[in-house]
Amino acid sequence: MLIDDFGRKVTYLRLSVTDRCDLRCIYCMSENMTFVPRSQLLTLEELVRVGRAFIGLGVKKIRITGGEPLTRRNILSLFQALGEEPGLEELTLTTNGTLLPRFARQLRAAGVRRVNISLDTLDEERFRRFTRTGELARTLAGIDAALEAGFERVKINAVVLDGHNQDEVVRLVAFALERGMDISFIEEMPLGLMESRDREAHYCSSDRILEELQRHYTLVPTTENTGGPARYHRIAGSGTRVGFISPHSHNFCDSCNRVRLTAEGRLLLCLGQEHSMDLRRVLRANPADDEPLRRAIVAAMRQKPRGHEFDLSAPTVLLRHMNATGG
Ligand code: GTP
Ligand code: 5AD
Ligand code: SF4
Repeated sequence: MLIDDFGRKVTYLRLSVTDRCDLRCIYCMSENMTFVPRSQLLTLEELVRVGRAFIGLGVKKIRITGGEPLTRRNILSLFQALGEEPGLEELTLTTNGTLLPRFARQLRAAGVRRVNISLDTLDEERFRRFTRTGELARTLAGIDAALEAGFERVKINAVVLDGHNQDEVVRLVAFALERGMDISFIEEMPLGLMESRDREAHYCSSDRILEELQRHYTLVPTTENTGGPARYHRIAGSGTRVGFISPHSHNFCDSCNRVRLTAEGRLLLCLGQEHSMDLRRVLRANPADDEPLRRAIVAAMRQKPRGHEFDLSAPTVLLRHMNATGG
């Protein structure tokens, strides 16, 4: 069992398999991002070793993230390997959806029961602007593919920024409701630097979104929890849950149950801090023995900080972008 110095149990690993993505969301990457050279990424075999070590130490949920995880070559083999681990209760995926038409069925067959798909807008022109390169139709096709593949839950993730997409929250909920999906609204975190021309977008609190939604829907608060940081409301008379991930307005660090592994094998003990441990070095120094890896993971728990120190009034921020962190 992994327990940190504040008594929090770590049961959830977010495993980033690449920092690359076929989109370039403005809050996630800078325009001229350079990516980690491939030789520095953990191999799929190393990712499986790390996943197994965490499962052996009591981790029950692994979420594969990136960058865009489905752009990583042979990624299905990772899902298949981890999906067979008896100690793992949940294997999940966060994706931008563009490659789901190709992979959804096979992911479902590998044991993935839930997927979270990022979608901030239903307007084609805006989608192109927010993602710099993307086509809305491709993400929508991915959502359709996920629904057809029969996942138990499909959830939409929308990062809401004022002057950007805050006027679409009702429309996004209607979209989720029509399809029997869940949706979570996320307060943007100041990771990396947004380009100055994208700066007209501003913080939008979860409470404002909730107020806006309450004008159109009856939202009933629930204590349901998916093991992530969202607080949920259910839309009365439906199966749809609306989640709010509010690192600024409702800090959830006290109940933090997770750590992240970057694609280059750095174990981050908090999304909003630099505390980390280099597991790639341990993996490569001990190719045939996982005991040093397990010991390093246990030791890393001593470094897990109490929480993030995001400050929206400060000009910066952690320079690490979300794609490198593992959204
Ligand atoms: P569920 O399993 O559906 O609960 O997923 P989740 O919310 O844990 O995962 P998802 O990948 O959908 O995360 C959504 C967003 O929540 C991320 O992109 C982050 O913006 C935010 N988030 C997740 N974990 C943390 C965390 O530890 N700290 C902070 N501040 N934000 C987080
Ligand atoms: N703040 C909050 N969420 C972010 N994401 C990417 N960058 C940020 C940020 N700066 C989210 C995406 C997606 C997940 C991978 O991370 O919207 O849902
Ligand atoms: Fe890609 Fe997701 Fe980052 Fe957008 S938020 S650039 S889809 S990794």
